[in-house]
Amino acid sequence: MRIAMIGTGYVGLVSGACLSEFGHSVVCVDKEADKVAALKAGTIPIYEPRLDEVVATNTKAGRLTFETDIAKAVRGADAVFIAVGTPSRRGDGHADLTYVHAAAEEIARALTGYAVVVTKSTVPVGTSREVEKIIRKLRPDLEFDMASNPEFLREGSAIDDFRRPDRVVVGCDTERAREIMREVYRPLYLHETPILFTSRESSELIKYAANAFLATKITFINEMADICEKVGADVQDVSRGIGLDGRIGGKFLHAGPGFGGSCFPKDTLALRKTAQDLGTPTRIVEAVVSVNDSRKLAMAEKIERAFGGVNGKTIAVLGLTFKPNTDDMRDAPSLVIVPFLQRKGATIRAFDPEGVKEARKLMNVELCRDAYEALDGSDGVVILTEWNEFRALDMARMKALLKTPLMIDLRNIYRPNQMAQAGFTYVSVGRATAAPSR
Ligand code: NAD
Ligand code: UGA
Repeated sequence: MRIAMIGTGYVGLVSGACLSEFGHSVVCVDKEADKVAALKAGTIPIYEPRLDEVVATNTKAGRLTFETDIAKAVRGADAVFIAVGTPSRRGDGHADLTYVHAAAEEIARALTGYAVVVTKSTVPVGTSREVEKIIRKLRPDLEFDMASNPEFLREGSAIDDFRRPDRVVVGCDTERAREIMREVYRPLYLHETPILFTSRESSELIKYAANAFLATKITFINEMADICEKVGADVQDVSRGIGLDGRIGGKFLHAGPGFGGSCFPKDTLALRKTAQDLGTPTRIVEAVVSVNDSRKLAMAEKIERAFGGVNGKTIAVLGLTFKPNTDDMRDAPSLVIVPFLQRKGATIRAFDPEGVKEARKLMNVELCRDAYEALDGSDGVVILTEWNEFRALDMARMKALLKTPLMIDLRNIYRPNQMAQAGFTYVSVGRATAAPSR
């Protein structure tokens, strides 16, 4: 099977590489010539664990190639996936479909015979039909089908998520398209992955509903965390206590500084906008958006309180990316929290294992080589992202480097009693503050 993947970002590159590993012949296209040149030279432009291995193996096997020219990639393809960005449109939060529409036009001009054109980008309900119209207008005689195939992978575990998804969702209207999509995902049948065929509208909505539901779960537990702090309860016990109920499930119940990333923030905004436009506003999603926005600021204020004011203080910040195992800084809580602390007069010494390159473009802080360098001479430390390497820091060394043994852990990666015993004042989320016991 020959596949063209338009857009070689987090989703396009992972999907293209994994589909080539399934045995298909895949051409990944990107309009950014530098990105394509890097990929051709074997350099991966993003950080995603094990993506380099999958790309290298399949490039070597001749199943995965890179192109800037859509026409070359699309010629003879059985399926053409659109995996370009759909950022928030400025002003109203609607998904900006400029890139999707532009890709559709380019595909229309380039197709040489029947293919299924698949929207893999997260797109509002109705987009697949819009794309179909764009292609039909430019090529009235062309034989093609449209399908919607949203992607559910997470950054940081994208390869596993793609290889072993909970489900694959495909929206399409014809048996011919269904046949091709079944063939694309055939290796997953071996793992008995459910493949759900729906209408295009249902498929498009499933993606937004899934992201909005997960964002709601996070926002819910974050509000429970606030209650926990007032009443002396422990949010981790509460998460476990409700999560063990099979109807609720324990995942996505980690309280923290609010969700970030390239998808939950923009997709909740887009769903809110779609619902408003349809005259069926979704008050739950509206609340999720506003609670999450205020949470990032509330966390910055929590840090300020823990320091008893930050003016003139030096703060070590560990973790800048929106989650661990990625270099992605899009909508990261750090982008709200760090500037807030700086405005209040703090000096920030930060470290992130993979995010430093992106962070350098987005914030003006002292970027350190490791956690201990950030801690050296600081008045306290804040953990913003739960990278594994922050989970087992050497307490004695930290205490010796810090001016004051103060830790604000917005990801709850340490236990309050353990921190108290190590001599720290320890402020976390949804749990009582621990005072040093020695
Ligand atoms: P990204 O910004 O990392 O990558 C998009 C790529 O598309 C860029 O490299 C850009 O140069 C390229 N591009 C844009 N227009 C093009 C064109 N006409 N021809 C060729 N290349 C073009 O975006 P992403 O994070 O990979 O997200 C892509 C889509 O997938 C979005 O709709 C997003 O919501 C969705 N999604 C993302 C994730 C994720 O974890 N990042 C997960 C699931 C779904
Ligand atoms: C999310 C979804 O999990 C994917 O299924 C989806 O495909 C993707 O969005 C997308 O549409 O792009 P991702 O944004 O990569 O994936 O990362 P998540 O692990 O979902 O984390 C998102 C944010 O929520 C992070 O800021 C994370 O720290 C936060 N989070 C997550 C919590 O605060 N608590 C949790 O329990 C889980």
